[in-house]
Amino acid sequence: MEPPPPSQRILIFGATGKIGTYITSAIANASPPFARVAIYTSANTIAAKAAHVEALKARGVDVVVGELDDDDKIKETYQDFDTIISCLGRAILSHQTRLIRLAAISSPPIRRFFPSEYGTDVLHPVTPDPRAEPPHRYKLEARALLERLASGEAGAEAEGDASLSYTYIVTGPYAEFYVAPTGQRGVEGGAMAWDRAGGFDVVNRRATLGKGQGTDPIALTTMPDTAHFVVCALRHPAQTHNRALRCHSFTTTPSAILSAFEAQTSGRGTSEQETSGRGTWAVKYLHLDELCERERAAYARGDAEKGLFSVRRIWTMGGSVYKGWKEGRGWDDSGEWVVRQGWTAGTLEGVVRGEIERQMREESEGEGMV
Ligand SMILES: NC(=O)c1ccc[n+]([C@@H]2O[C@H](COP(=O)([O-])OP(=O)(O)OC[C@H]3O[C@@H](n4cnc5c(N)ncnc54)[C@H](OP(=O)(O)O)[C@@H]3O)[C@@H](O)[C@H]2O)c1
Repeated sequence: MEPPPPSQRILIFGATGKIGTYITSAIANASPPFARVAIYTSANTIAAKAAHVEALKARGVDVVVGELDDDDKIKETYQDFDTIISCLGRAILSHQTRLIRLAAISSPPIRRFFPSEYGTDVLHPVTPDPRAEPPHRYKLEARALLERLASGEAGAEAEGDASLSYTYIVTGPYAEFYVAPTGQRGVEGGAMAWDRAGGFDVVNRRATLGKGQGTDPIALTTMPDTAHFVVCALRHPAQTHNRALRCHSFTTTPSAILSAFEAQTSGRGTSEQETSGRGTWAVKYLHLDELCERERAAYARGDAEKGLFSVRRIWTMGGSVYKGWKEGRGWDDSGEWVVRQGWTAGTLEGVVRGEIERQMREESEGEGMV
């Protein structure tokens, strides 16, 4: 398949979500600007996130109001776009294959589809059978359909031509989430412990690190860097179409993250906390078998966030790192450099600084963490 022309008219699903907010902002701010940027969102979101949506409009983003199951509305909307970016959340990923099928039969044609990935490589060989990992299910279904379409094999099924190409932005864990607690502070034990799958508690100066002594590498991508990689991919279709782009900001270890927290909280705590002179934190280790046990229990209970335990397990097993990765870059399957366009990637120190501020702000506002 010939590479598609550079994207100009971009429609975003899931635009006000956690990563969608960053991606939409980066696309809306891109310079030179894209010809048209729009979001497709529900009447509920328009009401619940009115200020957010108004701010997007003020930046020139068009807002299309429609439901995700309204095929006619989506078909009609697609007619004015060449590229679809899906940032849909896990809870709604089962809708994605329908959005892809509608894109494949759109006329004039949609040329590029970015399915909601922005996370763990669903084919990372670190687990015995990555295709059987529950959080990967809908991402794999979307990939299978996109790849059949791109190869022309899906012709009759989709009644479309093979001009729809795909790009997967694979990032591993978001740095901002990895350094945060994974539960609520103050509620110990069970699913709601602050460190149920690991994490860093600034207020109480304590950390729970993955596996062993926390020295295993973990590759992290910041949310602004994730959005930057999406914009780069939009600008460079020849290098990025029909590929999984593995991106990351920096590689570190849980111990190095702890050291960064200790260094940055030194001198900012109570006198008791400061006796060590370096803001030393209390540390626990969450061993892999214990994490697996918590994962099994979360699935048995049917926790809404059970997938959190699965991805934490995959990352703890090494599922975020690849040989040959370099800082702040995007790589294709063969390890070839793809995108780095005048951009300074996020750093461990910057992410830790942001998390300290976030937790202190929440503490002063009296909010719990999640
Ligand atoms: N790398 C990581 O560490 C990491 C962490 C979290 C997520 N991810 C990945 O990032 C992608 C996006 O996840 P996210 O956490 O950013 O998503 P999210 O904030 O949970 O949801 C994104 C958007 O999806 C739509 N949506 C979600 N639930 C819906 C529902 N029940 N009904 C209708 N619309 C719904 C909403 O769209 P509107 O904006 O239109 O309302 C929402 O803003 C996923 O593929 C996820 O696996 C990666």
